[in-house]
Amino acid sequence: MVSGPSQASTSLFVILSLKPCVVGLAIARSLSQLVDKSTILVERHTRAGQETSSRNSEVIHAGLYYPPESLKTRLCIRGRELLYDRCESCNIPFRKTGKLVVATEKQRPYIETLHAKAQKIVWPSSFSSTHRDEPAVPTQLLSRAETRQMEPNLSDEIAGALWSPATGIIDSHALMESLEADIIDSESGDLVYSTRVVRVDPYTPSVSDDTPGHGWVVQTVTGDAEEPDAIFTKTLINASGLSAPLIVNSLHPEAERMPLFYARGSYAKYSGPGIAGISHLIYPCPETEGNAHGFQSLGTHLTLDLQGQVRFGPDLQWISPADGEDADFWTKHLVANESILEGMHHAVSRYLPGVTLEGLQPDYVGVRPKLIGPGSGFKDFVFRTDYPDTARESEYSPLISLLGIESPGLTASLAIAEHVVEIMLGQGTG
Ligand SMILES: Cc1cc2nc3c(=O)[nH]c(=O)nc-3n(C[C@H](O)[C@H](O)[C@H](O)COP(=O)(O)OP(=O)(O)OC[C@H]3O[C@@H](n4cnc5c(N)ncnc54)[C@H](O)[C@@H]3O)c2cc1C
Ligand SMILES: *[C@@H]1O[C@H](CO)[C@@H](O)[C@H](O)[C@H]1NC(C)=O
Ligand SMILES: *[C@@H]1O[C@H](CO)[C@@H](O)[C@H](O)[C@H]1NC(C)=O
Ligand SMILES: *[C@@H]1O[C@H](CO)[C@@H](O)[C@H](O)[C@H]1NC(C)=O
Repeated sequence: MVSGPSQASTSLFVILSLKPCVVGLAIARSLSQLVDKSTILVERHTRAGQETSSRNSEVIHAGLYYPPESLKTRLCIRGRELLYDRCESCNIPFRKTGKLVVATEKQRPYIETLHAKAQKIVWPSSFSSTHRDEPAVPTQLLSRAETRQMEPNLSDEIAGALWSPATGIIDSHALMESLEADIIDSESGDLVYSTRVVRVDPYTPSVSDDTPGHGWVVQTVTGDAEEPDAIFTKTLINASGLSAPLIVNSLHPEAERMPLFYARGSYAKYSGPGIAGISHLIYPCPETEGNAHGFQSLGTHLTLDLQGQVRFGPDLQWISPADGEDADFWTKHLVANESILEGMHHAVSRYLPGVTLEGLQPDYVGVRPKLIGPGSGFKDFVFRTDYPDTARESEYSPLISLLGIESPGLTASLAIAEHVVEIMLGQGTG
């Protein structure tokens, strides 16, 4: 681990992140391609991406659901294309399965609205003109018969579907390994494992001090070491996912802290009748009755992995950290639980009536970090910038915090990396 004032003279970027961390890896990879910067990705686990890969749906989203002008739409579309390209060029297993959003007669207006909205989405400006002849988010409305032809086991109640051919699935573990390999092969990027960040302090030199300018002092502990190491960095990027907001909050007075909410999502594996020949992802229309909201969960959907295993999930269950926040909070909630199966079976039966309760088995659980609580509307990704000395933002030593990186965070990861680099370079840190 590098440390000490000698490091301070090179512009050093440190990216802090934890286990799943596809976003941290993507950013570190982008930065490691900038030859005049050194980048360190600090990772507290012994390997990158051990847990992430198993805790989401591994779906490459098309970009259907979010407001057209949002970062989520823009970074999802850009990220989706970058991801498909990367899959092809780096031999990352993926399949462009396409997806059906299935609707009952009553739900038809929902998919019609979604279709109309998708037609209006334009390519982000960062795209070359070659893409511009095709729609940015291609969709097609299917009749009852067309829908049944694609998936014969769908319920008779299903009166049609929205077809999204740009949706697919990816081996997220292989993606992370490929990003890791790029960083390791780069001139200026480093991965530091088994190292956790224990403290961050703003650094503002006094006038007489000839140490380099503003920045951040990051204290890390490697393995079982008793003493922390210190790293000085001009720019600090916190892509630490679920708990990132806790850190940012600790730097601010109570009144300026951001509220946080967490929602568990459980998955169940399925083998049994009622899914004959299934080859597309199947999503119900999100529940929008009561206090449920389509922006909080896309509904319990059917997903396939690259081995053809069928899974249903994720459901949505709000949880709240106890006051004082203990480190085991997450792990306690990451255990799959039999009690979810009945509700899941009920939800799935609405579109796949042949699926049996007995065929469902609890699988894994993921936790969604939310910037808004139950019953509220859309919330975008947040890229927040803090400075060591708020009175002197011109010193350009930002702490860039990525907040609320929930779905489509995996799809968007490569585009998020581009965006963070833009923020950094735009800030004059280069
Ligand atoms: C149930 C579920 C399903 C999803 N499905 C999809 C999908 O199908 N498609 C899609 O595109 N997206 C999906 N997502 C979203 C996607 O998984 C996330 O957006 C993405 O994985 C976020 O990655 P990240 O790198 O930002 O954060 P994370 O994966 O949360 O990683 C950050 C890590 O930083 C670690 N950390 C915290 N503090 C420290 C410290 N002090 N020192 C070191 N490390 C620390 C944390 O432990 C954490 O593990 C889903 C999410 C969930 C929860
Ligand atoms: C980033 O967030 C994580 C999780 O809350 C925290 O442990 C870490 O210290 C933070 N780092 C910075 C520099 O804010
Ligand atoms: C399973 O979930 C139920 C309801 O949320 C809870 O009461 C129970 O303690 C959980 N069981 C386990 C083993 O976690
Ligand atoms: C599922 O589809 C298969 C093949 O078309 C058919 O034989 C079977 O009866 C269907 N089952 C249900 C529950 O629809």
